[in-house]
Amino acid sequence: MNAPTKTEEFAAKAPAAIPDGVYAETVLSVEHYTDRLFRFRMTRPAGFRFRSGEFAMIGLMVGDKPIYRAYSIASPSWDEELEFFSIKVPDGPLTSHLQKIQPGDTVLMRKKPTGTLVLDALTPGKRLYMFSTGTGIAPFASLIRDPETYEKFEEVILTHTCRDVAELKYGFDLMEEIRNHEFLAELVGDKLKHYPTVTREAYPFQGRITDLMESGKLYTDLGVPPLDPAADRGMICGSTAMLKDTKDLLEKAGLTEGANNKPAEFVIERAFVG
Ligand code: A2P
Repeated sequence: MNAPTKTEEFAAKAPAAIPDGVYAETVLSVEHYTDRLFRFRMTRPAGFRFRSGEFAMIGLMVGDKPIYRAYSIASPSWDEELEFFSIKVPDGPLTSHLQKIQPGDTVLMRKKPTGTLVLDALTPGKRLYMFSTGTGIAPFASLIRDPETYEKFEEVILTHTCRDVAELKYGFDLMEEIRNHEFLAELVGDKLKHYPTVTREAYPFQGRITDLMESGKLYTDLGVPPLDPAADRGMICGSTAMLKDTKDLLEKAGLTEGANNKPAEFVIERAFVG
C-alpha cells in the first residue's frame, strides 16, 4: 500500500475517543469566497447554547492531536446549524487544514462559548455601530440576524472594510439573505445599514473606517450625526491595530468601554487568525 498523501493524512476525522468537554460535529456545507476567505456550516449539538456575538474554540484532529483556535459563531443563537467565517492562512496550524474540509467531515468544538460582543455588555442606546475588518464581520453576522438586536436599537450600522471588493462578498450575501428571509425581512426593515469599504482597490466607498470616521465621511454618507455617547453604541472586531485605532476614536468621541459584568457604550474583540 502507498504511504498516505498529505490530504489523506489530514482528513478531518473524528478522534477515536471524544475528549470530555468537546463536541464532534459534522460539516454540512463549505463556501470559498477568495483564496483567503471561506465559510462553513456544521451541525449544532443538542443542548449547545450561546449568545449571538460569542465565540467558541473550533478544532481539528491533525495527526493524532487536536488543534483549536477561537472562532466567532457567525450564525444567530436561534439557528439550528452553526456557521463560521474563516481566513485561510497558508501555514496556519489550524486554517491550513480547516480550509480543506468537506461536507461530512468532523469538526471539533469545545463546549463553552464566551465573548464580549454581546448585547448585554452595552447600555441602552439608539444606534448600534458594528465596526469590522476582514473576518471580523463574523460576530456581527450573528448579531444582525438576531431579532433582539432590533428590539434594542432603532438603527444598526454594519461597517465592513476589506482589502478588495471580492472580500466583501460574505457581507453582501448576508444582507441578501436578510432581505429574503421569512421573518427577518419584515423585522429588520430599513433599520440595518451596510457600509462596505475597500482599501486596496477602486470602489465607490474607499478607505479605512478610521479615516472615514475622522474625516466625517462615514456620517455624511449614512446621513447620521457624528458619534454621540448619548445615542450611539459600538462594537469593534478586527485586527489588533484596527481595534486600537477604532477604540481611540470612540473614546475621543466620549464613549467608554464596557464588559459583560460592566455594560457601557462600546465593546471590542479581536478577530482571531491562525
Ligand atoms: P489596509 O489595506 O490599509 O491595510 P487585513 O486583511 O490585513 O486584516 O485587513 C483588513 C482591512 O483592515 C484592510 O482594508 C486594512 O486596510 C484595514 N486595516 C488594517 N489596519 C487598520 C487599522 N489600524 N485601522 C483601520 N483599518 C485597518
